Amino acid sequence: MAKSSNPGTADILVVNGPNLNMLGEREPAIYGRETLDDIARAVTARAKTHGLSVDFRQSNFEGHLITWLQEARRLNRGIIINPAGLGHTSVALLDAVIVTELPVIEVHLSNIFAREPFRHHSHISPAAKGVICGLGSQGYLFAVDALAALLAGKKSQGRIKGRK
Ligand code: DQA
Repeated sequence: MAKSSNPGTADILVVNGPNLNMLGEREPAIYGRETLDDIARAVTARAKTHGLSVDFRQSNFEGHLITWLQEARRLNRGIIINPAGLGHTSVALLDAVIVTELPVIEVHLSNIFAREPFRHHSHISPAAKGVICGLGSQGYLFAVDALAALLAGKKSQGRIKGRK
């Protein structure tokens, strides 16, 4: 698993849920041939073009994901999450996303709406600023661009407020 470029205090925390460590080998017709390390590298490079750092993580354990989200509240500025299967089942993960009080972009590699009905609903989506699905690993990069714009907007809003 790729190590974060700036553990702990990175601008963007990227959280990946169960089975995403198997990308590259897992159902390539659906998820493609890229590994999660490939995606981590591409995400880190894209964030760098915006002057942002990334902490890229994956776990098969729901509790790890929840703890990272709780910590993000004080350590990070924005979140990209691919909750994987937990998005369809976990209220606890939704609660942890809400706890962050940060802008969150939800990403799915596959188009969950073109798949089995049980994948059509995500518990996470109501708490997300935006949702990207069906665009493969590119979705993560678009999420970085979206967060960069959101964070830049926040900064300039802060400056305008400060000027008053
Ligand atoms: C996924 C879609 C989920 O339905 C599935 O359980 C995953 C991956 C995606 O990225 O397309 O593990 O989140």
